[in-house]
Amino acid sequence: MWIKYLKLLNFRNYEKLELNFHPKMNIIYGNNGMGKTNLIESIYVLGLTRSFRLVNDRTLIHKNASIAKVEGLISNRYDTNYKMILSKEGKKVKINNNKVLKLSDYVSKINIILFHPNDLKIIKDTPSIRRKNLNIDISQLSLSYLKDLNSYNQLLKQRNAYLKQLLINGNQSLDYLNILTEKLIDYGIKIYEERKKFVELINQYLTNIYQNITGIGNLIIQYVSDYQDLKKQDIMKMYQKAFKKDLSFGKTNFGIHTDDFTFLLDEYDLRDYGSEGQQKNAIIAMKFAEMELFKKKKGYYPILILDDLFSELDNQKIDNILNFISSEIQVFITTTNLEHFKRFQEDDYSHYLIDNGKIMEG
Ligand SMILES: Nc1ncnc2c1ncn2[C@@H]1O[C@H](COP(=O)(O)OP(=O)(O)O)[C@@H](O)[C@H]1O
Ligand SMILES: [Mg+2]
Repeated sequence: MWIKYLKLLNFRNYEKLELNFHPKMNIIYGNNGMGKTNLIESIYVLGLTRSFRLVNDRTLIHKNASIAKVEGLISNRYDTNYKMILSKEGKKVKINNNKVLKLSDYVSKINIILFHPNDLKIIKDTPSIRRKNLNIDISQLSLSYLKDLNSYNQLLKQRNAYLKQLLINGNQSLDYLNILTEKLIDYGIKIYEERKKFVELINQYLTNIYQNITGIGNLIIQYVSDYQDLKKQDIMKMYQKAFKKDLSFGKTNFGIHTDDFTFLLDEYDLRDYGSEGQQKNAIIAMKFAEMELFKKKKGYYPILILDDLFSELDNQKIDNILNFISSEIQVFITTTNLEHFKRFQEDDYSHYLIDNGKIMEG
């Protein structure tokens, strides 16, 4: 899958922009603060209707405007036109000029895998960040996953609310709680299975990719869940055991909403033992593993976006990463210098010099 053409109107610091892209490598370069990230952000927003930067949608609209438009032509066997319009009234999306009423019928049609410096949080931060990331990644591959997750979260809310009621009014029946608990477990098991399968599949690629980048080290992701290897009967028992605690806390302490996954490099947790560089390489290896997994499942590669990946990496690792990117992949790379790309044939990439929301060259 690749994006052939992009048109922006009042998106961040781009008042007006029309660009054709290279099917393989696109180098977005320029000084800091010029709009490199804004440009790749617009592609991401076109696909997912929201930014990877944790910001209010309003900030995506140019300071002096009230509406932003992003339009792109995506090629994947045939060409499809996508449009996304952002204003105070919200978001509107179109596919081939037909309005799509539900955002959920639009999102994830354009497949993108992104590396952003914030992704280091996936290793450093709390489990909830890792779960959130995992959820986004799995939902790209599985349609039912997000639905199951939504059902689970709804049941979890209901169960927690009922626990609070029970605490106040102790002689209420437990039947309703038991019904909620069983339903919660059923969805929980589905999610557990999907997560487990996903991590297993990623691990089939991960070690190899990591070694290609760094030359050394055994990297795997370890999935940690309360449901680990338990059958439904055992899980029900765990809930019974936890009942008193749940009641006193007014919330559900046990379940897949506490799942975590850790990056183990030669069996040590990268969060505690890894250098900044090792953590970065691990994240990039995971993203590349996801590219391969996606290709295996769907038959084509997603669009790859690497934002500021190369700052602070040594030249050898940068070369290893560039060599690893298959020529079947369309990739966007932001950088402040072009040095690393000089060795490529001119036909193999396009470069765009960005200066304050304008393309100066390319
Ligand atoms: N809504 C907006 N309207 C106008 N300019 C914006 C808006 N949002 C961000 N900018 C400008 O974009 C620039 C940052 O762009 P960015 O893509 O993050 O830079 P970099 O090239 O370093 O990746 C800043 O100068 C900022 O003021
Ligand atoms: Mg940037």
